Order: sequence, then C-alpha cells, then structure tokens
Amino acid sequence: MKYFIANWKANKNLAEAASYMDILLQTISKNTALLERLEKNEIKIILAPPFPFLFTLKEKIKSAKNIHLAAQDISHFEDGAYTGEITGRMLQGLVDFAIVAHSERRKYFAEKDDVLFKKAQLAQKYGLQSIYGLRDEHDRIPAGVGIVAYEPNAAIGTGKNEPVKNVLRIKEILNLPKNTSYLYGGSVNRENAALYLKTGKIDGFLVGSASLDPIHFIDLIPS
Ligand code: PGA
Repeated sequence: MKYFIANWKANKNLAEAASYMDILLQTISKNTALLERLEKNEIKIILAPPFPFLFTLKEKIKSAKNIHLAAQDISHFEDGAYTGEITGRMLQGLVDFAIVAHSERRKYFAEKDDVLFKKAQLAQKYGLQSIYGLRDEHDRIPAGVGIVAYEPNAAIGTGKNEPVKNVLRIKEILNLPKNTSYLYGGSVNRENAALYLKTGKIDGFLVGSASLDPIHFIDLIPS
C-alpha cells in the first residue's frame, strides 16, 4: 500500500476546502488507471485539512474507495476541561488517521516526546492510525505506530527536497519493524515524486505545499 497524504497545514477556508474536494474527486473520477489502483488497495489518498472542514469533507468522500481523512494533530488530553482541544474521542468516526509529531508541532508548540507519545497512545485508543513525524534518525517512535514520515527540517517548505539516497539511509538506520510504512516528506512535488517511488523502498509521501492544489497533488500520484 502506498500513502499519499495532503497536509494542508493552516490554509484555506471552508468554501476553498469544499471546492478543492470537488475538483479532486472529479479529477480522480476521470482517471481510470488511478481509480483502478484505489479499487485494488494499492493506493490510499489521505487529506489532512484543518479541523473545521473535516465534517464537510467527510460527507463528500462517503462513497469513495481509499480516500480518507486525517487530523493534523490530536490532543494529548482525553475529555475534560481543556478549552480548545480536539480529542481522540471527538475525531472518532470522522477521520481514520492522525498526524502526530509533525516537526512544526515540535518547533512552534514545543511538543516533546512525553506529549507526543501520549498523543500516539490516545490515537490508538480511539482507533486512529498515527502518521508519526521524524526529523531525523534520533527521534523516538512510540510503540504501536505503523506509519512513520521522515521529514528533515531543511527540506520542509524550502523547495530543497532531501536526496533519495539520504532518505533510504535514514530508513536503514531506523531499522523499522516489518509492516511499518516509511513515508518521506519535504518539498515533494510532481517533478520529484517518482524518484523516490521508483526505489520501491518508500511507501508514499506527506505533502505540504504541493498538496494545496488538487490537480498538482493528483499529478504526483503514479497511476
Ligand atoms: P512541504 O511540507 O511539502 O511544503 O515541504 C511537507 C510537510 O511538512 O509535511
């Protein structure tokens, strides 16, 4: 299974989000090769929009096979007096995945392993699969995480994607348990995506900037 994840970060409003999804679904419906790959469980397309758009987008993908939603984050708290938090229980039934430990959460919100491990644990408790961000080979991975995304800081949002050989070298060092999917993220676009995929050792991408345009995003998925 290959994962293509669109991380919109803090972008778009509700109307833009809805129109993005309409264009995405329309584009996919005209691409029979891609439809077939989705049908055959070879590919999953995962959209990670901001929280307020999840419900509207969920309605739109109801009948689409292998198109899923992810939360961009999840609270490390369970229910309670935590104003503003979005908990695992709130996300249940709304998303199938949650991005945890993205380097922007580590950098701008000072999230450290204790909080990140709790988030991964709560995601699991509420039936969401974590997509767990790693900045380098030193970042620890909580138990039970089945999808990791290697995203070196220098490659995120800079247009300087990490050379393929470095991405493969980090995978070797990580020595992940069998069945763990290994994704790459950092300035992935339709020009460079194939270089990673043709190695057969990278299970997909976490895409930021290039995912903001639905046509560009679909273009980087091989069909
Ligand atoms: P980018 O972001 O594609 O804009 O580099 C990737 C990410 O942060 O997930």
